[in-house]
Amino acid sequence: MTDTSKQDRVLIFDTTLRDGEQSPGATMTHDEKLEIAELLDEMGVDIIEAGFPIASEGDFNAVKEIAERSKNSVICGLARANFKDIDRCYEAVKHAAKPRIHTFIGTSPLHRAIPNLTMDEMAERIHETVTHARNLCDNVQWSPMDATRTEHDYLCRVIEIAIKAGATTINIPDTVGYTAPRESADLIRMLLERVPGADEVVFATHCHNDLGMATANALAAVEAGARQIECTINGLGERAGNTALEEVVMALRVRNDIMPYRTGIDTTKIMNISRRVSSVSGFAVQFNKAIVGKNAFLHESGIHQDGVLKNIETFEIMKAADIGLHEKNIAMGKHSGRAALRSKMQELGFDLGENQLNDVFVRFKALADRKKEVYDDDLVALVQDQVGQD
Ligand code: KIV
Ligand code: ZN
Repeated sequence: MTDTSKQDRVLIFDTTLRDGEQSPGATMTHDEKLEIAELLDEMGVDIIEAGFPIASEGDFNAVKEIAERSKNSVICGLARANFKDIDRCYEAVKHAAKPRIHTFIGTSPLHRAIPNLTMDEMAERIHETVTHARNLCDNVQWSPMDATRTEHDYLCRVIEIAIKAGATTINIPDTVGYTAPRESADLIRMLLERVPGADEVVFATHCHNDLGMATANALAAVEAGARQIECTINGLGERAGNTALEEVVMALRVRNDIMPYRTGIDTTKIMNISRRVSSVSGFAVQFNKAIVGKNAFLHESGIHQDGVLKNIETFEIMKAADIGLHEKNIAMGKHSGRAALRSKMQELGFDLGENQLNDVFVRFKALADRKKEVYDDDLVALVQDQVGQD
């Protein structure tokens, strides 16, 4: 296995509890948020965005308690570009051993029109609010919302202002999931080249999945120099969601040969947290979702089953155990073959002779034509029936 210890470290910033919880219907209770934050901390997430403290009393209390209980992760809260939001945010995160204030403002033409600020007025607002945040806290993240649709000259100008005012992380959000991988990389590269002081801060990538490119865009940004990925468990998030944590982390691990960056995530904790987030948010994970979907490590077709029974790597590029999944990877259905049936029968404790196996196989195929999935109990019943007839 490759020695990754000297590779550049990519920080994982999880925003399941903030951007993820903003998905309509994904609201979590106070206790559920505490539980998810604990799991994120345990799995090695570098920064947990725990909520938006000004949004409600409940959000404030959740961020505060998560901050108090945090062990290793930096605890971050979100604040708009005004003193009231920033003060409230700091009141909540200050209880953490490692607090962070994350403040943002929309910088694209469409977003500038909302507060009706001129470019100069917005620049001044950024200077004042980042300075204020930095006076409260050493760790300040600043985001130009809708960065990917902001004019490059203006983007460079406001990022320079934020860095001079004390921001330590500059996050580049693709707020509406509009960018594409090459553009995502070019943008980060351009900012690193053009903005004075860019080499003194961490650049982050924050992608939404409206065109299904959030993971690809985040990884492209890393290859161009971003060193923090913002993501959520199961890709939970508004509209089509955010970059999925499990996807970027496993992509960096499985394709470390071409993307030589390391994260601090204990990947064996992925499956458990995915299931907990799905359960507490009420958002089911689609069966064919990369990494954590029910079918992601399951094989039904005869050719695939035969292949994985002989050598798991024939049809699997990573081990299920690497994400903490220890369930069986063979699903019995109408596409399954004799080899899979034999292996399944042995697993269930039946050592069938060739003739018996053939008979059970015929009956199994007939059953599989009527049922989508044939369960272990069905197979046991088939064998017992068969033995009864012999
Ligand atoms: O998508 C976005 O622009 C955000 C910001 C608040 C960072 O979530
Ligand atoms: Zn977002």
